This record gives sequence, C-alpha cells and structure tokens, in this order.
Amino acid sequence: MPRPRVRCRYARGVSSTDPRIAVIVVAAGSGTRLGAGAPKAFVRLAGRTLLERSVHALRGMRTLPQVIVVAPADRLEEAAAVGEAALGSPVVVVAGGETRQRSVAAGLARLAPSVEVVLVHDAARALTPAALFDAVVDAVEATGGGVVPGLPVSDTIKRVDEGGTVRETVDRSELAAVQTPQGFPRAQLAAAYEAATTDETDDAGLVAAAGHPVTVVPGDAHAFKITTPWDLRRAEELLAGALPPRIGFGTDTHAFDPAAELWLAGLHWPGEQGLAGHSDGDAVAHAIVDALLAAAGLGDIGGVFGTGDPRFSGAHGEVFLRETRRLVEAEGYRIGNISVQLVGNRPKFAPRRQEAEALLSELLGAPVAVSATTTDGLGFTGRGEGVAAFATALLVR
Ligand code: CTP
Ligand code: MG
Repeated sequence: MPRPRVRCRYARGVSSTDPRIAVIVVAAGSGTRLGAGAPKAFVRLAGRTLLERSVHALRGMRTLPQVIVVAPADRLEEAAAVGEAALGSPVVVVAGGETRQRSVAAGLARLAPSVEVVLVHDAARALTPAALFDAVVDAVEATGGGVVPGLPVSDTIKRVDEGGTVRETVDRSELAAVQTPQGFPRAQLAAAYEAATTDETDDAGLVAAAGHPVTVVPGDAHAFKITTPWDLRRAEELLAGALPPRIGFGTDTHAFDPAAELWLAGLHWPGEQGLAGHSDGDAVAHAIVDALLAAAGLGDIGGVFGTGDPRFSGAHGEVFLRETRRLVEAEGYRIGNISVQLVGNRPKFAPRRQEAEALLSELLGAPVAVSATTTDGLGFTGRGEGVAAFATALLVR
C-alpha cells in the first residue's frame, strides 16, 4: 500500500509548492566598508561566498521557504546559480535598488501568492543559524506582529554632539542591537513599504513608523553583520574554530644493521646496533612523519620525500620532522599532539624516554608522547631482527 503523503512541520528542509513563509535575502549592496573589490555578498569567507552561506542556512529551517535573492543588476545569473546550489532548489532572483529599502521593495514584489509571513535577511549576516529564522517565524505567528532579533548592548553608549562633546549617557537597559532576519505578517510589511516616506536602514523601522508594534526576541551572536575587514576576519576565525581536528596514523619498520650507528626518536644511541635504511632508519621519526602527512592529507613519506632523493640519503629524523612541520603549517594546520610507540627489544628506551619526548616536542612545537614495548619474543621485533613504530597525530586548524 502506498504511504500517505504527510507534510510534517518539523521535517527539516521539507519543501512546499505553496510556501507560507518567504525569506528575502538582500545582497545588492556594494560593500564599500569591506572594500574587498567585489559586492559584499560575493566576497568569499573560508572558500564560500557570503550569499552562499546565507542561503545555505535556510536549508536548515523546519520548512523550506520561498527564497528571494535581491542581487546587483549585473550579478543576477551568478546569484541564481549560487542560490540554487546552496538551497538545493531554485531561488527567485531580482535586481536590487540604490538603497537597502529599495532592494527589499524589489524582493517584496516577487512574493508567491501563498506567502503569509515574510522574513527579510541581510546576506552580510552569513553565519546566522537556521534556528534563528525558525524562532522569528514562531514569534511572528505567536504575536501577529513584527519581530526582530536583538542583543543587549554591552558598551556604555554616549550621546555626543557634532563638536564631539559628550551630552549624556544613554540608559543601555533600554537598548537592543538588532539583527536580521526580521519577520512580519506579509500584509503589514507590504503596507508599510507602500506608505514609506522615509529611508530606513531596517524593516522594523518602517513597520513601526506605519504604527504597527514590533517585538524583540533574543538574537544570536553569530548573526553579526560582516561590515568591515575586521568582521570578515572574525567570521573566518569562528568558522576555523568550528572545524573538527584531523587525525592521522603512520607506521615504520627498519631492520637492524650491525654496521650502522643507531639513531632513534631523533637521538643518537652510541654502542647500540643501528638500523638499515636510505636515511638513518629512525623508525620513530618516520612513523610520526607519516601520521602528520596523513592527517594533513598530504600523502606519505615516500611520496613527499622520495627514497631516491639524494638530499635525504643518510638524513636524520630531525630533517624530516622539521620539513613535515613546515608542510602541515603551510596547509593552515597547527600540530595538536602526537603519540608514538616503539616496538622492539633494543634499545632499552625508558632511560631516555623523557629526553626523546623533549627533543621531539621542541622540533614539532607540540606535545609528543613516546612509549616503548616488546612483543614477548614474538614476530620479527621479538626475534630482534628490527624495530617498528606506530604513531598518531592530531592537527587543528
Ligand atoms: N543591501 C542591498 N541593497 C542596497 C544596499 C544594501 O541589498 N542598495 C544589502 C547588502 O547587500 C547587505 C545588507 O543590505 O546584505 C546590509 O547592508 P550593508 O551591510 O550596509 O551592506 P553594503 O551596503 O553592501 O555595505 P556598505 O554600506 O559598506 O557599502
Ligand atoms: Mg550599506
């Protein structure tokens, strides 16, 4: 039996052919204060444009709204492509006007007939979470009036005259720093725009001027407006902090070579049997290198350093570790920590464990824990034919 089609209010991103909610994303500004050489909504933040990020957030709403993107007249096609890719379904695109208010008016003209609640959102508030859109919709439905998200003002605010003289301190308990999305019953917003005689910087200003009550609901710190280069950097840092760390794993094995000097964990071990290899056979250092390269997605030691490369013939672990650190840092990572274990009968590691940890931690700029174990006489390490090392590395952005 076919399953009945149910429209669930809480199924995220469920689309409707007759949307009740519309979000007008205003993206037609020039971004003068950002000064990035492109209209602000088309400036990239960690690889994605502000417009893409703003529209993508709408996917997370409980119900997929009608999405209207108001873009610069010469960017309509680009806005349509970016909007559709970010939303996962087509968006309406319309050219903006000279001022934000005119841009919103252009968007209002394209509302679907079924829309009852309209949210207006600045593309420049690119990190606004979907939950704030849902909260504004809920508050519009509950109050039947306009709703703006706002945050308490934390600075002391002064009223200052033209000459720069402080006139008074404004009572900040009466103030709210308002954000978008701002939500309204469609009829109220449309009527306020028709009756507009002044140019306001937000929609609540016009609706209030038309005599309708507007309520403030709790805003979200992430909904800050990207206005200046400093704001863009802050947004980049917030995104970087939200990215998960990356883990990598690496192993290495070398056979004993009685003719060689032993170098292990970056240390020289006089009187101990050495290890065979193109380099100095430092399995501990090499396992760490592989773990770091894997975590950064940079391949492995053979691919990066090349066993045929004469520069690394006989090279000590230190050379590989320094260069690997440089490579992962150039990819935008910082080493979080490393754990490495040596498996073998010789050398007795415990007496020099702390020395090895200090050296490796210094070389890599992060804590390195080194442990050692034997295998109860089993396998090639147990038979004393060589050593193995196993390492994990954590990288953070
Ligand atoms: N906006 C718009 N049409 C305009 C002016 C602004 O659609 N004529 C939009 C912007 O794209 C932005 C939002 O309104 O998403 C808030 O405006 P603002 O932060 O001032 O952006 P810009 O006007 O682009 O920046 P600036 O004032 O620094 O030039
Ligand atoms: Mg502006």
